[in-house]
Amino acid sequence: MKIVGLTYDLKSDYQFKDGDPEDANAEFDHPSTIDVIAEAIEANKFKVERIGNAENLLDRLGSLKVDIVFNISEGLFGRNRESQVPAILEMAGIPFVGADALTLGITLDKVMAKKIFIADKIPTPKFFEVNSSEQLNHTNHHKFPLIVKPRFEGSSKGLSENSRVKNKTELTQQVEYIINTYKQPALVEEFISGQEFTVAIIGNEEPEIMPVVQIKIDGKLKLNDKFYTFARITSDRLEYICPAKISAELKKTIDDLALKTYRTVECRDFGRVDFRVDREGSPYVLEINPLPSLSTEDVFKLVAENAGITYEGIIGKILNYALKRYDLN
Ligand SMILES: Nc1ncnc2c1ncn2[C@@H]1O[C@H](COP(=O)(O)OP(=O)(O)O)[C@@H](O)[C@H]1O
Ligand SMILES: [Mg+2]
Repeated sequence: MKIVGLTYDLKSDYQFKDGDPEDANAEFDHPSTIDVIAEAIEANKFKVERIGNAENLLDRLGSLKVDIVFNISEGLFGRNRESQVPAILEMAGIPFVGADALTLGITLDKVMAKKIFIADKIPTPKFFEVNSSEQLNHTNHHKFPLIVKPRFEGSSKGLSENSRVKNKTELTQQVEYIINTYKQPALVEEFISGQEFTVAIIGNEEPEIMPVVQIKIDGKLKLNDKFYTFARITSDRLEYICPAKISAELKKTIDDLALKTYRTVECRDFGRVDFRVDREGSPYVLEINPLPSLSTEDVFKLVAENAGITYEGIIGKILNYALKRYDLN
C-alpha cells in the first residue's frame, strides 16, 4: 500500500501577534478538514502519514518514508509562503500533489499573476499597485468604483464593505488600511459589477473542467455591487449554486478561459479560477488558486457531487493524477 504524506497548516498553529487583523489565520485549515482529507485518501486505499507544516517537514525530512505528499500547506509568512513546502519537497526529491513552488509563488502574488494574464491575453480587471498612499497624489484619473485588495493574500483577507471605494477619499483610506494592516502593497482594480463564478479543474494533459459554480449573495445571482467579503465566508447570506444558471455560450466562454488560465500558470493536478462577469457579459479572471480549499464546506465537494462523483472520489482522482505525473501509478 502506498503511503501518502499530508502537509498542512492548522489554524491553531498560528500565534496571533499584536496588530494582527482578525483574519490573520484565515487561510489555514481546521483539524476537521485535515481529518476529512486523510479519511478520503484512506478511502482510496492509501495509508496516510500526517506531517504538518513546513517546520515539521524539515524536522522529519531525513527519515520520512512516503511515496508522495498531498500538500495543502498555506505557509506562514510572505508572498512565497505557499511555495515553501513544495520547494522543500522538490529539494528532497519527494513527489507531491499539486502545483510547484513557482506556480504557487506567481499566483499568490496577484500583481505578478495579472501581468502574466495580460501577456497571455486573459481578460483581468484593469489595475494599479500602490506602495504608499502618497502615490495617490500623483495619479488622478481613476474610474470609480474601484476595489482595494492586499497584493498577496487569499480567502478574502482584507476584504470588507469598505474595500469597494467610490471616491479619492475612500480610496486613500482603504489603501492606507491595507498597507498598514497587511504590511504589503495594495492592489487596486476596477470594480466589476455583475455576476461571480468559480471553476474547479483537475488533471494534467487533458484537464477535466468541473461544473461552473455561481456565487449567490443575499439571495441574488445578479450581484451588482455585492462581493465576497471576509465576513460573508461564514455567513449564510452567501451560497454556492452548482451548476451555474447561465447560457451555454457563457458557460463555454468561462470553461475555455478557466482552462487557459490553468495552463498559463502551469497548474498541476487541481486548481480553481475565480471570475466576475460584467453586466454586458464580459468575463474577467480575478485570480487562479492552484491550492484551493478542499474543505467539504467549499466548492470541491459540491462540484464533485454535481459531476456524479463523491468527495472521496475527487480526492482520489487528484491524487491519481499526481501519481501518474510521476509515473508512480
Ligand atoms: N475587480 C473586482 N470586481 C468586483 N469584485 C471583486 C474584484 N476583485 C475581487 N472581487 C471580490 O472579492 C473577492 C475576493 O477577491 P479575489 O481576487 O478572488 O481574492 P481572494 O479570493 O484571494 O481573497 C472575489 O470573490 C469578488 O467577490
Ligand atoms: Mg478568490
